[in-house]
Amino acid sequence: MQKNFAATDPTLPGYLDSLLYPEDPTLSETRRYSEAQGLPAIQVGAFDARHLEVIASSISANTPRMKAVEIGTLGGYSGIALTRGMLKTAPAPHEVMLYSFDMDPKHLRVASENFKHAGLLKNVKFFEGPAVAQLKKIENQGPFDLVFIDADKVNYPNYLDWAEKNLRAGGILLADNVFAWGYLNAKTFPDEDTKLAVQALRLFNEKLAHHKGFFTTFMPTGEGLAMAVRLSH
Ligand code: SAH
Ligand code: DHB
Ligand code: MG
Repeated sequence: MQKNFAATDPTLPGYLDSLLYPEDPTLSETRRYSEAQGLPAIQVGAFDARHLEVIASSISANTPRMKAVEIGTLGGYSGIALTRGMLKTAPAPHEVMLYSFDMDPKHLRVASENFKHAGLLKNVKFFEGPAVAQLKKIENQGPFDLVFIDADKVNYPNYLDWAEKNLRAGGILLADNVFAWGYLNAKTFPDEDTKLAVQALRLFNEKLAHHKGFFTTFMPTGEGLAMAVRLSH
């Protein structure tokens, strides 16, 4: 039998919230402080942060040092989830590092305060500037175990190329917003920027789905979370 694509039971969100408490006080304070500082409220949802944390906790298998890359820091909400996930299975706290990229200095200042409040400042390095250029600075520290893409959508295909070259075999690629806010199959768009973003997301999804170097799925979260494993051959 062909099952439905998404779970439509309206009681499920409340049920899962009470089962998992996906947003603990550290994350809810991170969200509150980021919004109070005037950052846009476009961080991943609490349930998606839980997905990131669980997935990040799974990357330790064949590497003592756990190194993740986040493209699009904002206030550090998703980055804190990724870092805490890695810490859950790391051999020691100093073996965990998140390399997080954003072009907005204010976002990075707020993120740094949120990481400090979470007690995770030792486990993160921030890079300021357009990510395509900044990513070159860490290539000599790879290969990496996980790459999470969540910055400017027009560069998603370029971030995919970077991840292909800099993820270890078995490493994990994640990307937010791959359902393009409901415009994936649209023919008209509210504005030119949305059109360019959607076109780039379509290209990203096609490249990733057909990529010989990745084994891919698209998780039907609210925003669409692509997840792919870097293959060894
Ligand atoms: N991952 C975050 C949300 C990121 S929002 C979370 O879930 O908590 C997207 C971020 O990408 C914004 O902070 C924005 O400043 C940044 N950004 C946009 N274009 C960028 C670029 N070209 N290079 C680096 N960062 C960029
Ligand atoms: C936008 C960006 C995001 O990463 C997101 O999750 C939601 C919205 C945006 O640029 O509008
Ligand atoms: Mg996003």
